[in-house]
Amino acid sequence: MACIANIRHFMPRNSASACSPTSQTSGHTAVVGLQWGDEGKGKIVDVLTARHDVIVRYNGGANAGHTVVAEGQKYALHLIPSGILYPEKTCVIGNGTVVDPEKVIDEMEKLRARGIRVDGTNLKISDRAHVVMPWHKEQDAALEEYLSSVTAGQRGSLAIGTTRRGIGPAYSDKVRRSTAIRMRDLLDPEYLRERLRVICKLRSAELEALGVKAQPLDPDAVTDRYAAIGMQLAPHITDTVFALHDAIAEGKSLLFEGANAALLDIDHGTYPYVTSSNCSALGIPAGTGVPGCHIHRVLGIMKAYSTRVGGGPFPTELLDETGDRIRERGREYGTTTGRPRRCGWLDLVAVRYSTMLCGATGVACTLFDVLAGFEELKVCVAYRRPDGSMTDRFIPDARGLEGIEPVYETLPGWPESSTPAANRNALPANARAYLERVEAYLGVPIEMVGIGPDRAQTLVREPVGCG
Ligand code: GDP
Ligand code: IMO
Ligand code: MG
Repeated sequence: MACIANIRHFMPRNSASACSPTSQTSGHTAVVGLQWGDEGKGKIVDVLTARHDVIVRYNGGANAGHTVVAEGQKYALHLIPSGILYPEKTCVIGNGTVVDPEKVIDEMEKLRARGIRVDGTNLKISDRAHVVMPWHKEQDAALEEYLSSVTAGQRGSLAIGTTRRGIGPAYSDKVRRSTAIRMRDLLDPEYLRERLRVICKLRSAELEALGVKAQPLDPDAVTDRYAAIGMQLAPHITDTVFALHDAIAEGKSLLFEGANAALLDIDHGTYPYVTSSNCSALGIPAGTGVPGCHIHRVLGIMKAYSTRVGGGPFPTELLDETGDRIRERGREYGTTTGRPRRCGWLDLVAVRYSTMLCGATGVACTLFDVLAGFEELKVCVAYRRPDGSMTDRFIPDARGLEGIEPVYETLPGWPESSTPAANRNALPANARAYLERVEAYLGVPIEMVGIGPDRAQTLVREPVGCG
């Protein structure tokens, strides 16, 4: 048994990081997507970074694409938290993520080339985060190719429409354990070589079974390549769980940045058309080691309409000119893959479900400017099942959503304005009425309204230290 002295040694520097009333009031915030991704989380994280100290990614990998527009410059972030543009803040890639180390190095170099500070002090990567290896991307693509060729009746192709960034296969290995590599393993070449001997043998056979014709994987070559990557990333790789608890104990405030979104959550989304992590707020404790009791503000990010990339059910999808109009006005093309996003009306049934699931205390309604100029707008307030019965409860299952018809409420539109509103009260009356209807349905306040992509184009109920 460990003696008490040893146990103390492993405790965070100050025991105030326990969930005491004091720590609960220290201002830790979570930002999570309430739809199927691309709600503008990156922009809102950037805005909120001004009044937080540590910005933490807890899930996903390079499947995320978060856009920040600041002072006329556009940044697309995939693995590095959107707080990185503030040089004095600390960014953390938590243990719940899957890290493609070559991608993260590429992202770091691109940011540095634009004058953004990225070093071992302001970017920390969990030593327990799992590594996306090259074969994960090959497996992802090969499985998608195979599934694209298989159709199941009216349901069409069985492909998920993944980003092909190796996310599913990397998380599968995490759960399988014996074939996984973690960031800390990259710092220990002999241990890495030992593991890769087994993994390369098994993986070569699996890739061949999936129809990927390649040379058998050479464990020594892979070890050399990834040990070199490990040396490059060594200044960043650390035990982020203790680092976060130390930060809490020092009175610093944390901002958790969700990637992907609640309706893509592996347990609670439209399974199987989901991603492979808990991307709702429920993923934060496991993905960072910070218990949920530390988070007292959960800001759900909701587009003023709906979009989805990839396959899967989308009850309010518009396969017509209105959908095209939303796509063009909102520039709805993927940040990661460039794919056109599927567009549709706001689905309040779905968003009320994800608000509940994430414990959202407030909502940021983004891309609100995109809705200006429509004569009328629709919001989905209930679902009609194929047997004619109605429900206002979301059905988090692709099969369960088959044949669901949206029941709409129609709201009057508002004209495009040449002068942007300075605050919510300055919006046209019908625009305010739209926001009020959404608040009434969701039962939580809209704390921010996005009226353009720039960080300054954000109407905020309370000042957050930006324009
Ligand atoms: P994320 O993945 O949730 O961070 O969102 P993405 O960055 O993938 O997609 C959101 C897109 O909308 C990006 O192009 C943003 O620059 C843009 N955007 C964010 N907020 C607003 C807004 O309020 N209005 C407009 N017009 N664009 C916005
Ligand atoms: P951000 O953080 C939009 C979708 C993919 C696909 C499914 C599974 O930018 O909001 P995966 O590659 O994760 O195995 O793909 O999930 N998807 C996203 N869609 N935005 C994202 O991230 C997404 N991350 C995953 O399109 O349908
Ligand atoms: Mg995105």
